[in-house]
This record gives sequence, structure tokens and C-alpha cells, in this order.
Amino acid sequence: MPSDTTESRQRLFFALWPDDEVRVALEATGKSLLGKRIKRLPAANLHLTLAFAGSVTGSVRRCLESAAGNIRQAPFDLTLDQSGHWHRPRIAWIGPTHTPPGLWSLVGDLRAAFETCGLQADTRPYQPHVTLARKISRLENPAPITPVSWSIRSFSLVASVTDPRGARYEQLVSWTLEG
Ligand code: 2AM
Repeated sequence: MPSDTTESRQRLFFALWPDDEVRVALEATGKSLLGKRIKRLPAANLHLTLAFAGSVTGSVRRCLESAAGNIRQAPFDLTLDQSGHWHRPRIAWIGPTHTPPGLWSLVGDLRAAFETCGLQADTRPYQPHVTLARKISRLENPAPITPVSWSIRSFSLVASVTDPRGARYEQLVSWTLEG
């Protein structure tokens, strides 16, 4: 049995993981917003983070999975209809103008799960967004975007793996929203 040493740690986060159709729409929005010259995130990496755990041991991962399995939340719809740029992380993003109650509730339950599992939950206000590009100093001529409609039927635990070509994300477990 592997021990919980640094080798068995994983960098984990909970996210909404787009299906192929939504991924294509996010990719199209990124292209029209940022143009051809700006390097965007690979389409396979696009996601919306719910709660970021960071580097955790195997026992914390098992605790998070068990707590996530106890979350009861009905499916909801999300519309990503605004774009923006944040100075400090230097990212360009799209996100919802209106955050549906189901999303607040899911994030609240995950933050509570973090505390149950001995992790520090993020105390900053939650700002739902999909990062489209990094290392961006500003958004030139941002135009209104074509909204991306996303029907949220599940959420996922994802591992961030750094390999020589950059970050890669592996969806580990998904839970279906019901109710
Ligand atoms: P970002 O897209 O705004 O950079 C995987 O790294 C995901 O977790 C990304 O969506 C990233 O958000 C988010 N993330 C990374 N580090 C984080 C942190 N310290 N706090 C909150 N979210 C973080």
C-alpha cells in the first residue's frame, strides 16, 4: 500500500468539465475574442474551476471523494456571456454575468467538504470563469461575445499534471447532479 509521502500527492481541483459540444463553443469564443496571434489554452484544458484543493495526500483525496459523493444538487443551466481580463493572474476569461443559485450551492458544499477534510477553503469570493489564455497584459478591443450555453449535469474531480509541454488535466471522478 503506498504511503502518503510527497510522491503520492496529487494537485487536485473540482471543476465543471465541458462535453465536446460546449468545448467547441468555448474554443470558438476564445478564437473570436482573442484573435489568431494570442496563444490560447489547448481546447482539451478548458474547464470551470469550482474549488481548488492544491497538492493533497491520498487520504485527503479519499475524504474529498467521499464528501463529494454526498452532495445533493439538482442540474442547472449556466450561460457564459461576458469576457474579461484580470491584471494580476494576467488571464483572459469568459464567465456568467449571472451566477445561478445551483452553482453557488455546489461551490458552498465543496468548500464545506474541504473543511471536513482538513483543507483550508478559499475565503475569497467565488468568481466563476473559464480561463481562455494566460500571460495576457490586456484585452485589445474586447467585443461582446456569443454566449455559451452550458447545461450542468455533473461535476468532476480533476488532477493537474505538469509535463514538459505545460499543464495537462485528468478527469478522475465525476458525480451526476440529480433532483
Ligand atoms: P485559473 O484558470 O484562474 O488560473 C487548475 O490550475 C485550475 O485551478 C485553474 O482553473 C486555476 O484557475 C485554478 N487554480 C489554480 N491555482 C489556484 C488557487 N491557488 N486558487 C484558486 N484556484 C486556483
